Amino acid sequence: MNLLTFRSEEDLNRAGAGLIASLLQSNPRSVLGLATGSTPIGIYAELVKLYESGSVSFAKARSYNLDEYVGLSGSHPASYRCFMNTHLFDRVDIDPANTHVPNGLAKDLEQECAYYDAMIEDDRIDLQLLGLGHNGHIGFNEPDDELIPGTHAATLQQQTREANARFFNSQDDVPKQAITMGVAGIMKAAQIMLVVRGAAKADIARQALTGPITTQCPASLLQLHPNLVVLMDEAAGAWAK
Ligand code: GLP
Repeated sequence: MNLLTFRSEEDLNRAGAGLIASLLQSNPRSVLGLATGSTPIGIYAELVKLYESGSVSFAKARSYNLDEYVGLSGSHPASYRCFMNTHLFDRVDIDPANTHVPNGLAKDLEQECAYYDAMIEDDRIDLQLLGLGHNGHIGFNEPDDELIPGTHAATLQQQTREANARFFNSQDDVPKQAITMGVAGIMKAAQIMLVVRGAAKADIARQALTGPITTQCPASLLQLHPNLVVLMDEAAGAWAK
């Protein structure tokens, strides 16, 4: 595990974007595993700058997002498809047909999950970007006695719904379910970049990365990944010094 802490948000964003950009520079056909939430926004903004300056192209890249709310269409402002279009896809040269986000409106959720798994099995993810939930979740894999390996429809915990309420008009509007890649799907990526920001996540980051590997903290499974890089700001990573 490569643990990196950064003095400024700008340095962290540059380092995160730099990792993705170097991957694309060495292999323009790279497959990116992408994440939503407030954590990766600065990294996407930095990637847009790199694209605008001609340093990186997404023209041949493909992407798979971790998750999507069940019941939201891609045009809903709080959907993860809309988030990705706004922060990255509409601002770089990626072919929209090569961007994948689970379909939250799928009539048959099981079929949609199987379809998504078949795609990420075929198209191995080179680099998976991850944020960290306050309860240690990754994607929408919530703490539990058992974790589900493949893509599945997950029931969101109350704490997660509260944390994500800021993206909706009211807490009641936060969907109760989401389609998420499972932990096995995430762990299959050749490299994982976990990004953690803010003092409120310092303790869960420490638990996840130095505590016992347990399904009660899904991010702790990342300790088993052979190529994990963790980018933290000083507030989140104070314990790592
Ligand atoms: C959501 C997403 C996760 C994300 C988490 C943290 O639950 N499904 O992928 O990592 O939020 O979000 P934030 O980065 O806004 O703290």
